[in-house]
Amino acid sequence: MESLDAPAELDIFKRWLEIIEARFSIQIDESRQDAFRSALLRYVESQGMDLWSFNERRKAGQVCGDTWSMVLHLATNHETRFFRSLPATQRIVELCKQITAPKILSVGCSTGEEPYSIASALLDAGHPTFRVHGTDVSSMCISTAREGLYPRHPNVGTLAAAPTRDDKMRFHLFVREMVTFEEHNILQDRPVQLPNPHIVITQNMLIYYRTETRYEILDRLASMLTPGGHLITGPGETLNWSNLSMKRIPHSNPNVFQRSVDV
Ligand SMILES: C[S@@+](CC[C@H](N)C(=O)[O-])C[C@H]1O[C@@H](n2cnc3c(N)ncnc32)[C@H](O)[C@@H]1O
Repeated sequence: MESLDAPAELDIFKRWLEIIEARFSIQIDESRQDAFRSALLRYVESQGMDLWSFNERRKAGQVCGDTWSMVLHLATNHETRFFRSLPATQRIVELCKQITAPKILSVGCSTGEEPYSIASALLDAGHPTFRVHGTDVSSMCISTAREGLYPRHPNVGTLAAAPTRDDKMRFHLFVREMVTFEEHNILQDRPVQLPNPHIVITQNMLIYYRTETRYEILDRLASMLTPGGHLITGPGETLNWSNLSMKRIPHSNPNVFQRSVDV
């Protein structure tokens, strides 16, 4: 096998970058490429291949969906934390005051901290009934999220989770029933398992996509919303996106858009 830093190995890795970027319309930032290269090499070697034989399999159409998901998992960043954006969580709680049984979709939810933060904040605000549905392209992230088991966090109250041994907390069963997860690639056409949400939130995912792909994703998210529903994204993530059915709420941090009621 070629050494890791041999020019031929760098060439085949560059080819893989092009393949992955074209297939998933993502951009893998230069600062992440070394880490991705090591992770991809470890993965293909664990499957008894190298980047060349893996490419031969790809050309023969023998790379299955699960393997592509794993490659995408390795290529993307899954960093997250509880209450990462307090303004976004507060905005959701505010919007939910007008809705009896709100349905909230969190797209690119990673290991689940964002959906559970929303649930915890809604419970603390006295909201007894809601549904939060998290989707992520990574099956590994979704498995972790479904467990509902995390290191303890000071802002997650006992209404939502119970302390366990080893400084951990587990979300109560009734919370895990209201907070559901699904492996889903937002660039694919399959509908998500939460139709017509009142609120869609996506944060720190769009930044990995080129402008035209971001706009495609935002159009999709807008079309999923119930009429009058809201789309929330991180500040600066929507660039100059506009959509005839969506009105940008001025001066909002995070970005908030509302879908027209006449669609
Ligand atoms: C950096 S994390 C952000 C997690 C969380 N939203 C937050 O702000 O803390 C981005 C997540 O988006 C997911 N992702 C990337 N592309 C995706 C796609 N096409 N469909 C669904 N999830 C995707 C990644 O797997 C990753 O877990």
